[in-house]
Amino acid sequence: TPLSLIRNFSIIAHIDHGKSTLADRLIQACGALTAREMKAQVLDSMELEQERGITIKAQTVRLTYPAKDGNTYVLNLMDTPGHVDFAYEVSRSLAACEGSLLVVDASQGVEAQTLANVYQAIDANHEIVPVLNKVDLPAAEPERVRAQIEEVIGIPADDAVEISAKTGLNIPAVLEALVTRLPAPKGDENAPLQALLVDSWYDPYLGVIILVRIMNGRLRRGDKIRMMQMGSVYHVDQVGVFLPKMTPVDDLGPGEMGYINAAIKTVADCNVGDTITLDRAPAPQALAGFKPSIPVVWCGLFPVDADDFEKLRDSLGKLRLNDASFHFEAETSAALGFGFRCGFLGLLHLEIIQERLSREFDLDLIATAPSVVYKMHLTDGTEEMLHNPADMPDIAKIESIEEPWIRATIMVQDDYLGSVLTLCSERRGVQLDLTYVGNRAMAVYKLPLNEVVFDFYDRLKSLTRGYASFDYQMDDYEESDLVKISILVNQEPVDALAFVAHRSVAEKRGRSICAKLKELIPRQLFKIAIQAAIGSRVIARETLGAMSKDVTAKCYGGDISRKRKLLEKQKEGKKRMRQFGKVEIPQSAFLAALKMD
Ligand code: GTP
Repeated sequence: TPLSLIRNFSIIAHIDHGKSTLADRLIQACGALTAREMKAQVLDSMELEQERGITIKAQTVRLTYPAKDGNTYVLNLMDTPGHVDFAYEVSRSLAACEGSLLVVDASQGVEAQTLANVYQAIDANHEIVPVLNKVDLPAAEPERVRAQIEEVIGIPADDAVEISAKTGLNIPAVLEALVTRLPAPKGDENAPLQALLVDSWYDPYLGVIILVRIMNGRLRRGDKIRMMQMGSVYHVDQVGVFLPKMTPVDDLGPGEMGYINAAIKTVADCNVGDTITLDRAPAPQALAGFKPSIPVVWCGLFPVDADDFEKLRDSLGKLRLNDASFHFEAETSAALGFGFRCGFLGLLHLEIIQERLSREFDLDLIATAPSVVYKMHLTDGTEEMLHNPADMPDIAKIESIEEPWIRATIMVQDDYLGSVLTLCSERRGVQLDLTYVGNRAMAVYKLPLNEVVFDFYDRLKSLTRGYASFDYQMDDYEESDLVKISILVNQEPVDALAFVAHRSVAEKRGRSICAKLKELIPRQLFKIAIQAAIGSRVIARETLGAMSKDVTAKCYGGDISRKRKLLEKQKEGKKRMRQFGKVEIPQSAFLAALKMD
Protein backbone atom coordinates (compact mmCIF):
# COMPACT_ATOMS: atom_id res chain seq x y z
CA THR A 1 0.00 0.00 0.00
CA PRO A 2 1.40 3.45 -0.84
CA LEU A 3 2.01 5.63 2.22
CA SER A 4 -0.59 8.16 1.08
CA LEU A 5 -3.32 5.54 1.51
CA ILE A 6 -2.42 4.52 5.07
CA ARG A 7 -3.74 6.06 8.30
CA ASN A 8 -2.57 4.88 11.71
CA PHE A 9 -4.55 5.97 14.75
CA SER A 10 -5.16 5.23 18.42
CA ILE A 11 -8.48 5.61 20.14
CA ILE A 12 -8.22 7.50 23.40
CA ALA A 13 -10.93 8.21 25.95
CA HIS A 14 -11.84 8.34 29.58
CA ILE A 15 -12.96 4.99 30.96
CA ASP A 16 -16.52 4.06 29.89
CA HIS A 17 -16.86 6.82 27.32
CA GLY A 18 -17.34 4.14 24.67
CA LYS A 19 -13.93 3.50 23.17
CA SER A 20 -14.30 -0.25 22.72
CA THR A 21 -17.86 0.05 21.45
CA LEU A 22 -16.72 2.55 18.83
CA ALA A 23 -13.79 0.35 17.83
CA ASP A 24 -16.22 -2.53 17.28
CA ARG A 25 -18.40 -0.30 15.13
CA LEU A 26 -15.50 0.82 12.96
CA ILE A 27 -14.45 -2.78 12.46
CA GLN A 28 -17.97 -3.75 11.55
CA ALA A 29 -18.42 -0.79 9.20
CA CYS A 30 -15.29 -1.81 7.31
CA GLY A 31 -16.68 -5.28 6.90
CA ALA A 32 -13.86 -6.93 8.80
CA LEU A 33 -16.32 -9.18 10.56
CA THR A 34 -19.90 -10.08 9.88
CA ALA A 35 -22.38 -9.21 12.58
CA ARG A 36 -22.67 -12.87 13.46
CA GLU A 37 -18.96 -13.29 13.86
CA MET A 38 -18.82 -10.23 15.99
CA LYS A 39 -19.02 -10.90 19.64
CA ALA A 40 -20.23 -8.12 21.90
CA GLN A 41 -16.75 -6.66 22.20
CA VAL A 42 -14.15 -8.01 19.84
CA LEU A 43 -11.14 -6.13 21.08
CA ASP A 44 -11.47 -6.78 24.79
CA SER A 45 -10.75 -10.44 24.38
CA MET A 46 -9.34 -11.45 27.73
CA GLU A 47 -12.00 -12.98 29.94
CA LEU A 48 -11.24 -10.63 32.79
CA GLU A 49 -11.27 -7.62 30.55
CA GLN A 50 -14.72 -8.56 29.41
CA GLU A 51 -16.02 -9.10 32.88
CA ARG A 52 -14.69 -5.89 34.26
CA GLY A 53 -15.41 -4.04 31.05
CA ILE A 54 -11.96 -2.56 30.81
CA THR A 55 -9.22 -2.75 28.24
CA ILE A 56 -5.86 -3.90 29.55
CA LYS A 57 -3.68 -4.76 26.58
CA ALA A 58 -3.57 -2.52 23.58
CA GLN A 59 -4.84 -4.33 20.50
CA THR A 60 -4.57 -3.50 16.89
CA VAL A 61 -6.71 -4.10 13.81
CA ARG A 62 -6.15 -3.40 10.12
CA LEU A 63 -9.23 -2.10 8.29
CA THR A 64 -9.88 -1.48 4.62
CA TYR A 65 -11.97 1.56 3.90
CA PRO A 66 -13.22 2.72 0.47
CA ALA A 67 -13.38 6.49 0.95
CA LYS A 68 -15.54 9.07 -0.81
CA ASP A 69 -12.53 10.23 -2.83
CA GLY A 70 -12.59 6.89 -4.66
CA ASN A 71 -9.44 5.54 -3.00
CA THR A 72 -9.32 2.51 -0.75
CA TYR A 73 -7.42 3.24 2.47
CA VAL A 74 -5.76 0.98 5.00
CA LEU A 75 -6.67 2.11 8.52
CA ASN A 76 -4.66 0.67 11.38
CA LEU A 77 -6.58 1.06 14.60
CA MET A 78 -4.96 0.67 18.00
CA ASP A 79 -7.17 0.30 21.01
CA THR A 80 -5.56 1.68 24.16
CA PRO A 81 -5.97 0.56 27.78
CA GLY A 82 -8.55 2.51 29.70
CA HIS A 83 -7.16 2.52 33.22
CA VAL A 84 -4.58 4.81 34.82
CA ASP A 85 -2.42 1.87 35.85
CA PHE A 86 -1.77 1.15 32.21
CA ALA A 87 -0.97 4.69 31.10
CA TYR A 88 2.40 3.37 30.05
CA GLU A 89 0.80 1.14 27.44
CA VAL A 90 -1.07 4.14 26.08
CA SER A 91 2.20 5.90 25.40
CA ARG A 92 3.60 2.99 23.43
CA SER A 93 0.47 2.74 21.29
CA LEU A 94 0.69 6.45 20.58
CA ALA A 95 4.31 6.11 19.46
CA ALA A 96 3.19 3.76 16.70
CA CYS A 97 0.56 6.12 15.23
CA GLU A 98 0.26 9.55 13.63
CA GLY A 99 -3.14 10.49 15.05
CA SER A 100 -5.68 9.94 17.79
CA LEU A 101 -9.42 9.55 17.69
CA LEU A 102 -10.56 11.24 20.87
CA VAL A 103 -13.85 9.91 22.22
CA VAL A 104 -15.75 12.10 24.67
CA ASP A 105 -19.05 11.03 26.19
CA ALA A 106 -21.45 13.87 25.31
CA SER A 107 -23.47 13.24 28.47
CA GLN A 108 -20.41 13.39 30.74
CA GLY A 109 -17.95 15.76 29.16
CA VAL A 110 -14.20 15.98 29.58
CA GLU A 111 -12.82 13.88 32.44
CA ALA A 112 -9.43 13.57 34.13
CA GLN A 113 -8.34 10.73 31.90
CA THR A 114 -9.52 12.50 28.75
CA LEU A 115 -7.07 15.24 29.57
CA ALA A 116 -4.21 12.96 30.53
CA ASN A 117 -4.60 10.97 27.31
CA VAL A 118 -4.88 14.05 25.12
CA TYR A 119 -1.74 15.54 26.64
CA GLN A 120 0.11 12.32 25.89
CA ALA A 121 -1.20 12.41 22.33
CA ILE A 122 -0.12 16.03 21.90
CA ASP A 123 3.33 15.09 23.25
CA ALA A 124 3.48 12.37 20.62
CA ASN A 125 2.77 15.04 17.93
CA HIS A 126 -0.57 13.51 17.08
CA GLU A 127 -3.24 15.08 14.99
CA ILE A 128 -6.39 14.75 17.14
CA VAL A 129 -9.86 14.04 15.75
CA PRO A 130 -12.49 14.53 18.48
CA VAL A 131 -15.86 12.78 18.38
CA LEU A 132 -18.83 13.26 20.70
CA ASN A 133 -20.26 9.88 21.63
CA LYS A 134 -23.56 8.75 23.16
CA VAL A 135 -25.62 11.52 21.56
CA ASP A 136 -28.53 9.04 21.64
CA LEU A 137 -28.78 9.63 25.39
CA PRO A 138 -31.35 12.23 26.50
CA ALA A 139 -28.71 13.68 28.84
CA ALA A 140 -26.30 14.33 25.98
CA GLU A 141 -25.23 17.96 25.60
CA PRO A 142 -23.00 17.95 22.54
CA GLU A 143 -22.82 21.75 22.30
CA ARG A 144 -21.69 22.16 25.88
CA VAL A 145 -19.11 19.40 25.55
CA ARG A 146 -17.87 20.83 22.26
CA ALA A 147 -17.22 24.13 24.03
CA GLN A 148 -15.53 22.28 26.85
CA ILE A 149 -13.14 20.52 24.51
CA GLU A 150 -12.12 23.85 23.02
CA GLU A 151 -11.84 25.61 26.35
CA VAL A 152 -10.19 22.94 28.49
CA ILE A 153 -8.18 20.92 26.02
CA GLY A 154 -7.57 23.77 23.64
CA ILE A 155 -8.21 21.95 20.38
CA PRO A 156 -10.80 23.00 17.80
CA ALA A 157 -14.04 21.00 18.13
CA ASP A 158 -16.18 22.64 15.45
CA ASP A 159 -15.88 19.59 13.25
CA ALA A 160 -16.26 17.07 16.07
CA VAL A 161 -18.62 14.41 14.73
CA GLU A 162 -21.67 13.64 16.87
CA ILE A 163 -22.04 9.89 17.06
CA SER A 164 -23.63 7.03 18.87
CA ALA A 165 -21.37 4.01 18.98
CA LYS A 166 -24.33 2.13 20.34
CA THR A 167 -26.81 2.80 17.53
CA GLY A 168 -24.18 3.25 14.83
CA LEU A 169 -25.16 6.86 14.11
CA ASN A 170 -22.60 8.74 11.97
CA ILE A 171 -19.97 6.01 11.96
CA PRO A 172 -19.20 6.61 8.24
CA ALA A 173 -18.48 10.27 9.06
CA VAL A 174 -15.86 9.14 11.58
CA LEU A 175 -14.13 7.04 8.91
CA GLU A 176 -14.14 10.00 6.49
CA ALA A 177 -12.73 12.28 9.17
CA LEU A 178 -9.89 9.85 9.82
CA VAL A 179 -8.96 9.70 6.14
CA THR A 180 -9.22 13.43 5.46
CA ARG A 181 -7.87 14.86 8.71
CA LEU A 182 -5.10 12.52 9.80
CA PRO A 183 -1.71 12.75 8.12
CA ALA A 184 -0.34 9.82 6.15
CA PRO A 185 2.70 8.14 7.72
CA LYS A 186 6.17 9.00 6.43
CA GLY A 187 8.94 6.54 5.69
CA ASP A 188 11.45 5.40 3.10
CA GLU A 189 11.01 2.01 1.54
CA ASN A 190 14.60 1.93 0.30
CA ALA A 191 16.22 2.81 3.61
CA PRO A 192 17.53 0.06 5.95
CA LEU A 193 14.79 -1.61 7.99
CA GLN A 194 13.70 0.15 11.16
CA ALA A 195 10.67 -1.43 12.81
CA LEU A 196 9.43 -0.36 16.23
CA LEU A 197 8.74 -3.23 18.64
CA VAL A 198 5.42 -2.00 20.03
CA ASP A 199 4.31 -4.97 22.10
CA SER A 200 4.75 -8.70 22.47
CA TRP A 201 2.69 -11.48 23.96
CA TYR A 202 2.59 -15.21 24.21
CA ASP A 203 0.28 -17.20 21.99
CA PRO A 204 -0.24 -20.80 23.11
CA TYR A 205 -0.05 -22.08 19.50
CA LEU A 206 2.50 -19.82 17.87
CA GLY A 207 4.72 -18.81 20.77
CA VAL A 208 5.85 -15.20 21.12
CA ILE A 209 4.10 -12.75 18.79
CA ILE A 210 5.62 -9.33 18.22
CA LEU A 211 3.58 -6.31 17.21
CA VAL A 212 5.62 -4.00 14.97
CA ARG A 213 5.26 -0.67 13.25
CA ILE A 214 7.52 -0.34 10.22
CA MET A 215 9.15 3.09 10.05
CA ASN A 216 11.58 2.54 7.16
CA GLY A 217 12.48 -0.34 4.88
CA ARG A 218 10.63 -3.59 4.35
CA LEU A 219 10.25 -6.69 6.54
CA ARG A 220 9.74 -10.03 4.77
CA ARG A 221 9.03 -13.57 5.80
CA GLY A 222 12.34 -15.44 5.89
CA ASP A 223 14.39 -12.36 6.84
CA LYS A 224 17.06 -12.61 9.48
CA ILE A 225 16.30 -9.82 11.91
CA ARG A 226 18.30 -8.22 14.70
CA MET A 227 16.97 -6.53 17.82
CA MET A 228 19.17 -3.48 18.12
CA GLN A 229 19.09 -3.14 21.94
CA MET A 230 19.18 -6.82 22.81
CA GLY A 231 21.61 -7.68 20.04
CA SER A 232 19.82 -10.99 19.42
CA VAL A 233 19.20 -12.39 15.93
CA TYR A 234 16.15 -14.36 14.78
CA HIS A 235 14.73 -15.90 11.65
CA VAL A 236 11.27 -14.57 10.76
CA ASP A 237 8.86 -17.49 10.28
CA GLN A 238 5.73 -15.48 9.69
CA VAL A 239 4.71 -11.91 8.92
CA GLY A 240 1.09 -10.91 9.15
CA VAL A 241 -1.65 -8.45 9.93
CA PHE A 242 -4.71 -8.46 12.20
CA LEU A 243 -7.99 -8.47 10.28
CA PRO A 244 -8.68 -8.77 13.30
CA LYS A 245 -7.84 -12.48 12.93
CA MET A 246 -4.11 -13.05 12.43
CA THR A 247 -3.56 -13.31 8.70
CA PRO A 248 -0.15 -13.99 7.12
CA VAL A 249 1.19 -11.65 4.42
CA ASP A 250 4.46 -11.71 2.46
CA ASP A 251 5.88 -8.50 3.82
CA LEU A 252 5.25 -5.22 5.61
CA GLY A 253 6.39 -1.86 4.27
CA PRO A 254 6.83 1.65 5.69
CA GLY A 255 3.87 3.00 7.64
CA GLU A 256 2.39 -0.46 8.11
CA MET A 257 1.57 -2.29 11.32
CA GLY A 258 1.52 -6.02 11.77
CA TYR A 259 3.00 -8.93 13.62
CA ILE A 260 5.98 -11.21 13.28
CA ASN A 261 6.60 -14.63 14.65
CA ALA A 262 10.22 -15.74 14.95
CA ALA A 263 10.68 -18.69 17.32
CA ILE A 264 11.41 -16.43 20.28
CA LYS A 265 11.14 -18.23 23.63
CA THR A 266 9.73 -15.62 26.01
CA VAL A 267 8.43 -12.06 25.91
CA ALA A 268 11.33 -11.18 28.20
CA ASP A 269 13.54 -11.45 25.07
CA CYS A 270 11.52 -8.72 23.37
CA ASN A 271 12.17 -5.28 24.77
CA VAL A 272 9.22 -3.09 24.06
CA GLY A 273 10.56 0.00 22.32
CA ASP A 274 13.47 -1.87 20.75
CA THR A 275 14.24 -1.36 17.06
CA ILE A 276 14.18 -4.34 14.73
CA THR A 277 16.49 -4.20 11.74
CA LEU A 278 17.95 -6.59 9.17
CA ASP A 279 20.98 -8.56 10.24
CA ARG A 280 22.68 -8.28 6.85
CA ALA A 281 21.97 -4.57 6.34
CA PRO A 282 21.39 -3.01 9.76
CA ALA A 283 20.12 0.53 10.21
CA PRO A 284 22.84 2.91 11.41
CA GLN A 285 20.61 4.12 14.24
CA ALA A 286 17.90 2.79 16.52
CA LEU A 287 14.53 4.55 16.83
CA ALA A 288 13.83 6.72 19.85
CA GLY A 289 11.94 3.90 21.63
CA PHE A 290 10.40 4.40 25.04
CA LYS A 291 11.29 4.09 28.68
CA PRO A 292 10.79 0.64 30.19
CA SER A 293 7.74 0.15 32.40
CA ILE A 294 8.69 -0.12 36.05
CA PRO A 295 6.59 -1.82 38.69
CA VAL A 296 5.68 0.80 41.28
CA VAL A 297 3.67 -1.29 43.73
CA TRP A 298 4.97 -4.46 45.37
CA CYS A 299 3.41 -7.01 47.65
CA GLY A 300 4.12 -10.50 48.90
CA LEU A 301 2.05 -13.43 47.65
CA PHE A 302 2.13 -16.61 49.73
CA PRO A 303 0.26 -19.86 49.21
CA VAL A 304 -2.20 -20.62 52.01
CA ASP A 305 -1.19 -24.23 51.64
CA ALA A 306 2.62 -24.44 51.74
CA ASP A 307 2.48 -27.40 49.31
CA ASP A 308 1.26 -25.01 46.60
CA PHE A 309 4.57 -23.14 46.44
CA GLU A 310 5.79 -24.82 43.23
CA LYS A 311 2.40 -24.43 41.64
CA LEU A 312 2.47 -20.75 42.49
CA ARG A 313 5.94 -20.35 40.95
CA ASP A 314 4.73 -22.09 37.84
CA SER A 315 1.60 -19.96 37.55
CA LEU A 316 3.48 -16.70 38.08
CA GLY A 317 5.87 -17.77 35.33
CA LYS A 318 2.96 -18.37 32.97
CA LEU A 319 1.44 -14.97 33.70
CA ARG A 320 4.78 -13.30 33.19
CA LEU A 321 5.07 -14.89 29.73
CA ASN A 322 2.36 -12.55 28.62
CA ASP A 323 2.95 -9.58 30.81
CA ALA A 324 6.48 -8.26 30.88
CA SER A 325 5.47 -5.44 33.23
CA PHE A 326 4.76 -7.91 36.01
CA HIS A 327 7.77 -8.97 38.14
CA PHE A 328 8.31 -11.60 40.79
CA GLU A 329 11.11 -13.01 42.91
CA ALA A 330 11.16 -15.64 45.63
CA GLU A 331 10.81 -14.39 49.17
CA THR A 332 10.69 -15.98 52.62
CA SER A 333 8.75 -14.63 55.52
CA ALA A 334 9.00 -15.83 59.09
CA ALA A 335 5.24 -15.38 59.37
CA LEU A 336 4.10 -16.72 56.02
CA GLY A 337 6.80 -19.11 54.87
CA PHE A 338 7.88 -19.38 51.24
CA GLY A 339 6.31 -17.08 48.69
CA PHE A 340 7.06 -14.37 46.15
CA ARG A 341 7.60 -10.64 46.18
CA CYS A 342 5.67 -9.33 43.19
CA GLY A 343 5.82 -6.00 41.39
CA PHE A 344 2.89 -4.35 39.59
CA LEU A 345 2.13 -1.22 37.59
CA GLY A 346 -0.56 -0.24 40.09
CA LEU A 347 -3.28 -1.54 42.34
CA LEU A 348 -5.61 -2.62 39.57
CA HIS A 349 -2.81 -4.58 37.96
CA LEU A 350 -2.18 -6.26 41.33
CA GLU A 351 -5.85 -7.13 41.74
CA ILE A 352 -6.06 -8.53 38.24
CA ILE A 353 -3.03 -10.80 38.69
CA GLN A 354 -4.33 -11.95 42.07
CA GLU A 355 -7.72 -12.68 40.61
CA ARG A 356 -6.25 -14.61 37.69
CA LEU A 357 -4.13 -16.68 40.06
CA SER A 358 -7.16 -17.76 42.00
CA ARG A 359 -9.46 -18.12 39.02
CA GLU A 360 -7.29 -19.63 36.31
CA PHE A 361 -4.78 -21.44 38.48
CA ASP A 362 -7.01 -22.25 41.44
CA LEU A 363 -4.57 -20.92 44.02
CA ASP A 364 -5.54 -19.82 47.50
CA LEU A 365 -3.21 -16.96 48.43
CA ILE A 366 -2.32 -14.58 51.21
CA ALA A 367 -1.32 -11.17 49.95
CA THR A 368 0.57 -8.77 52.17
CA ALA A 369 -0.12 -5.03 52.15
CA PRO A 370 1.16 -3.36 48.98
CA SER A 371 4.16 -1.11 49.30
CA VAL A 372 5.83 1.38 47.00
CA VAL A 373 9.56 1.36 46.24
CA TYR A 374 11.65 3.56 48.54
CA LYS A 375 15.10 4.87 47.76
CA MET A 376 17.38 4.40 50.76
CA HIS A 377 20.57 6.39 51.26
CA LEU A 378 22.72 4.49 53.73
CA THR A 379 25.36 5.92 56.04
CA ASP A 380 28.09 3.99 54.21
CA GLY A 381 27.33 6.09 51.13
CA THR A 382 25.50 3.39 49.18
CA GLU A 383 22.01 3.57 47.75
CA GLU A 384 19.39 0.84 47.83
CA MET A 385 15.87 0.41 46.46
CA LEU A 386 13.58 -1.04 49.11
CA HIS A 387 10.78 -3.25 47.76
CA ASN A 388 9.77 -4.82 51.03
CA PRO A 389 9.28 -2.90 54.30
CA ALA A 390 10.42 -6.00 56.20
CA ASP A 391 13.90 -5.60 54.66
CA MET A 392 14.41 -2.06 55.89
CA PRO A 393 17.93 -1.74 57.35
CA ASP A 394 18.52 -0.74 60.94
CA ILE A 395 17.69 2.94 61.61
CA ALA A 396 21.32 3.60 62.55
CA LYS A 397 22.42 2.64 59.05
CA ILE A 398 20.02 4.97 57.26
CA GLU A 399 21.12 8.42 56.22
CA SER A 400 17.85 9.38 54.51
CA ILE A 401 14.88 7.89 52.67
CA GLU A 402 13.19 9.12 49.51
CA GLU A 403 9.68 8.21 48.45
CA PRO A 404 7.94 8.38 45.04
CA TRP A 405 5.41 11.14 44.34
CA ILE A 406 2.73 11.34 41.72
CA ARG A 407 1.04 14.20 39.94
CA ALA A 408 -2.71 13.62 40.17
CA THR A 409 -5.54 15.32 38.31
CA ILE A 410 -8.96 15.10 39.92
CA MET A 411 -12.15 16.42 38.37
CA VAL A 412 -15.24 16.73 40.49
CA GLN A 413 -18.55 18.58 40.90
CA ASP A 414 -18.28 21.71 42.98
CA ASP A 415 -20.46 20.19 45.76
CA TYR A 416 -17.87 17.54 46.54
CA LEU A 417 -14.78 19.70 46.16
CA GLY A 418 -14.46 20.33 49.90
CA SER A 419 -14.23 16.66 50.83
CA VAL A 420 -11.80 15.97 47.97
CA LEU A 421 -9.47 18.74 49.10
CA THR A 422 -9.64 17.43 52.68
CA LEU A 423 -8.82 13.91 51.51
CA CYS A 424 -5.83 15.18 49.52
CA SER A 425 -4.41 17.18 52.40
CA GLU A 426 -4.94 14.26 54.82
CA ARG A 427 -2.82 12.26 52.42
CA ARG A 428 -0.04 14.85 52.51
CA GLY A 429 -1.01 16.27 49.12
CA VAL A 430 0.34 19.57 47.82
CA GLN A 431 -2.06 21.54 45.65
CA LEU A 432 -0.54 22.65 42.36
CA ASP A 433 -3.58 24.02 40.59
CA LEU A 434 -7.31 24.49 41.00
CA THR A 435 -9.45 25.63 38.08
CA TYR A 436 -13.01 25.32 36.88
CA VAL A 437 -14.39 23.57 33.82
CA GLY A 438 -18.03 24.65 33.73
CA ASN A 439 -19.42 23.67 37.13
CA ARG A 440 -16.70 21.12 37.73
CA ALA A 441 -13.49 21.77 39.55
CA MET A 442 -10.17 20.43 38.32
CA ALA A 443 -7.63 20.01 41.09
CA VAL A 444 -4.03 19.11 40.35
CA TYR A 445 -2.16 17.68 43.31
CA LYS A 446 1.23 16.30 44.06
CA LEU A 447 0.73 13.28 46.30
CA PRO A 448 3.04 10.68 47.84
CA LEU A 449 2.34 7.38 46.07
CA ASN A 450 2.34 5.46 49.35
CA GLU A 451 -0.72 7.43 50.45
CA VAL A 452 -2.48 6.58 47.19
CA VAL A 453 -1.80 2.87 46.78
CA PHE A 454 -3.88 1.80 49.71
CA ASP A 455 -7.40 3.05 49.32
CA PHE A 456 -7.23 6.55 47.90
CA TYR A 457 -9.23 5.75 44.80
CA ASP A 458 -11.94 3.94 46.76
CA ARG A 459 -12.17 6.79 49.25
CA LEU A 460 -12.35 9.33 46.47
CA LYS A 461 -15.15 7.42 44.79
CA SER A 462 -17.17 7.01 47.95
CA LEU A 463 -16.70 10.63 49.05
CA THR A 464 -17.98 11.85 45.69
CA ARG A 465 -20.57 9.13 45.06
CA GLY A 466 -18.56 7.93 42.13
CA TYR A 467 -18.54 11.32 40.39
CA ALA A 468 -14.88 12.22 40.70
CA SER A 469 -12.51 11.23 37.97
CA PHE A 470 -8.87 10.66 38.70
CA ASP A 471 -5.69 10.17 36.75
CA TYR A 472 -2.04 10.27 37.70
CA GLN A 473 1.47 10.21 36.39
CA MET A 474 4.62 9.26 38.25
CA ASP A 475 6.50 12.36 39.30
CA ASP A 476 9.81 12.26 41.18
CA TYR A 477 11.45 10.91 44.33
CA GLU A 478 11.76 13.22 47.32
CA GLU A 479 13.33 12.91 50.71
CA SER A 480 10.80 12.37 53.45
CA ASP A 481 10.59 11.62 57.15
CA LEU A 482 9.61 7.98 56.84
CA VAL A 483 9.69 5.26 59.46
CA LYS A 484 9.21 1.53 59.47
CA ILE A 485 6.47 0.40 61.78
CA SER A 486 6.79 -3.16 63.03
CA ILE A 487 3.88 -5.06 64.42
CA LEU A 488 4.56 -7.39 67.33
CA VAL A 489 2.21 -10.12 68.38
CA ASN A 490 3.03 -11.66 71.73
CA GLN A 491 6.38 -9.79 71.66
CA GLU A 492 7.42 -11.23 68.30
CA PRO A 493 7.61 -9.07 65.18
CA VAL A 494 5.40 -10.32 62.35
CA ASP A 495 7.44 -9.44 59.26
CA ALA A 496 4.53 -9.62 56.85
CA LEU A 497 2.70 -6.89 58.76
CA ALA A 498 5.54 -4.36 58.80
CA PHE A 499 4.90 -1.18 56.83
CA VAL A 500 6.45 2.18 56.08
CA ALA A 501 4.68 5.46 56.81
CA HIS A 502 5.35 9.12 57.28
CA ARG A 503 6.30 9.89 60.89
CA SER A 504 3.33 12.24 61.26
CA VAL A 505 0.79 9.45 60.71
CA ALA A 506 2.78 6.57 62.22
CA GLU A 507 1.07 6.61 65.58
CA LYS A 508 -2.44 6.88 64.22
CA ARG A 509 -1.90 4.01 61.79
CA GLY A 510 -0.12 1.92 64.40
CA ARG A 511 -3.09 2.33 66.72
CA SER A 512 -5.63 1.53 64.06
CA ILE A 513 -3.83 -1.65 62.99
CA CYS A 514 -3.46 -2.86 66.55
CA ALA A 515 -7.16 -2.27 67.16
CA LYS A 516 -8.04 -4.16 63.98
CA LEU A 517 -5.76 -7.06 64.80
CA LYS A 518 -7.33 -7.30 68.22
CA GLU A 519 -10.65 -7.93 66.50
CA LEU A 520 -9.23 -10.33 63.94
CA ILE A 521 -6.94 -12.53 66.00
CA PRO A 522 -8.94 -15.10 67.92
CA ARG A 523 -8.42 -15.23 71.66
CA GLN A 524 -5.81 -17.69 72.81
CA LEU A 525 -5.48 -19.58 76.07
CA PHE A 526 -3.24 -16.80 77.36
CA LYS A 527 -3.26 -13.02 77.25
CA ILE A 528 -1.33 -11.50 74.34
CA ALA A 529 -0.05 -8.05 73.58
CA ILE A 530 -0.44 -6.59 70.11
CA GLN A 531 1.99 -3.75 69.60
CA ALA A 532 3.17 -1.32 66.96
CA ALA A 533 6.74 -0.10 67.28
CA ILE A 534 9.25 2.16 65.59
CA GLY A 535 12.60 0.52 66.27
CA SER A 536 12.35 -0.49 69.91
CA ARG A 537 9.88 2.25 70.82
CA VAL A 538 6.32 1.01 71.20
CA ILE A 539 3.85 3.53 69.75
CA ALA A 540 0.58 1.64 70.17
CA ARG A 541 -0.63 -1.34 72.15
CA GLU A 542 -3.72 -3.45 72.57
CA THR A 543 -4.21 -6.43 74.83
CA LEU A 544 -6.16 -9.43 73.71
CA GLY A 545 -7.64 -11.13 76.75
CA ALA A 546 -7.35 -14.85 77.32
CA MET A 547 -10.06 -17.11 75.95
CA SER A 548 -12.70 -18.38 78.28
CA LYS A 549 -12.71 -22.19 78.37
CA ASP A 550 -15.73 -22.66 76.16
CA VAL A 551 -16.30 -20.32 73.23
CA THR A 552 -19.92 -21.33 73.06
CA ALA A 553 -20.52 -20.45 76.70
CA LYS A 554 -21.79 -17.03 75.78
CA CYS A 555 -24.62 -18.50 73.73
CA TYR A 556 -26.77 -18.91 76.82
CA GLY A 557 -26.46 -22.67 76.53
CA GLY A 558 -29.85 -23.01 74.89
CA ASP A 559 -29.66 -22.53 71.17
CA ILE A 560 -28.08 -25.62 69.65
CA SER A 561 -28.04 -24.54 66.01
CA ARG A 562 -26.34 -21.31 66.93
CA LYS A 563 -23.76 -23.24 68.89
CA ARG A 564 -23.08 -25.51 65.94
CA LYS A 565 -22.74 -22.57 63.60
CA LEU A 566 -20.17 -20.98 65.84
CA LEU A 567 -18.14 -24.15 66.03
CA GLU A 568 -18.28 -24.58 62.28
CA LYS A 569 -17.20 -21.03 61.76
CA GLN A 570 -14.25 -21.66 64.02
CA LYS A 571 -13.28 -24.71 62.01
CA GLU A 572 -13.44 -22.73 58.76
CA GLY A 573 -11.18 -20.12 60.26
CA LYS A 574 -8.68 -22.80 61.26
CA LYS A 575 -7.84 -23.63 57.69
CA ARG A 576 -6.82 -20.08 56.96
CA MET A 577 -4.73 -19.56 60.08
CA ARG A 578 -1.01 -19.12 60.23
CA GLN A 579 0.81 -20.44 63.24
CA PHE A 580 3.04 -17.71 64.46
CA GLY A 581 5.13 -18.44 67.52
CA LYS A 582 2.50 -19.53 69.94
CA VAL A 583 -0.20 -17.49 68.26
CA GLU A 584 -2.39 -18.26 65.27
CA ILE A 585 -3.07 -15.35 62.96
CA PRO A 586 -5.93 -15.51 60.45
CA GLN A 587 -5.38 -14.62 56.80
CA SER A 588 -7.73 -11.65 57.07
CA ALA A 589 -5.32 -9.99 59.50
CA PHE A 590 -2.72 -9.62 56.77
CA LEU A 591 -5.13 -7.52 54.78
CA ALA A 592 -5.99 -5.32 57.74
CA ALA A 593 -3.05 -3.12 56.90
CA LEU A 594 -4.70 -2.34 53.59
CA LYS A 595 -7.45 -0.18 54.98
CA MET A 596 -5.80 2.48 57.01
CA ASP A 597 -8.57 4.74 58.20
P1 GTP B 1 -12.70 0.77 28.48
O1 GTP B 1 -12.51 -0.23 27.40
O2 GTP B 1 -12.80 0.15 29.82
O3 GTP B 1 -11.76 1.91 28.43
O4 GTP B 1 -14.15 1.43 28.28
P2 GTP B 1 -14.63 2.02 26.95
O5 GTP B 1 -14.32 3.46 26.90
O6 GTP B 1 -14.17 1.17 25.86
O7 GTP B 1 -16.20 1.92 27.07
P3 GTP B 1 -17.15 0.84 26.39
O8 GTP B 1 -17.03 0.86 24.92
O9 GTP B 1 -16.96 -0.45 27.09
O10 GTP B 1 -18.54 1.51 26.75
C1 GTP B 1 -18.90 1.80 28.08
C2 GTP B 1 -20.41 1.71 28.22
O11 GTP B 1 -21.04 2.74 27.46
C3 GTP B 1 -20.98 0.40 27.71
O12 GTP B 1 -22.00 0.00 28.59
C4 GTP B 1 -21.54 0.75 26.34
O13 GTP B 1 -22.61 -0.07 25.97
C5 GTP B 1 -21.98 2.19 26.55
N1 GTP B 1 -21.96 2.96 25.30
C6 GTP B 1 -20.94 3.08 24.42
N2 GTP B 1 -21.28 3.88 23.40
C7 GTP B 1 -22.55 4.30 23.64
C8 GTP B 1 -23.46 5.17 22.95
O14 GTP B 1 -23.18 5.72 21.89
N3 GTP B 1 -24.67 5.36 23.53
C9 GTP B 1 -25.03 4.78 24.69
N4 GTP B 1 -26.23 5.03 25.18
N5 GTP B 1 -24.20 3.97 25.36
C10 GTP B 1 -22.98 3.72 24.85
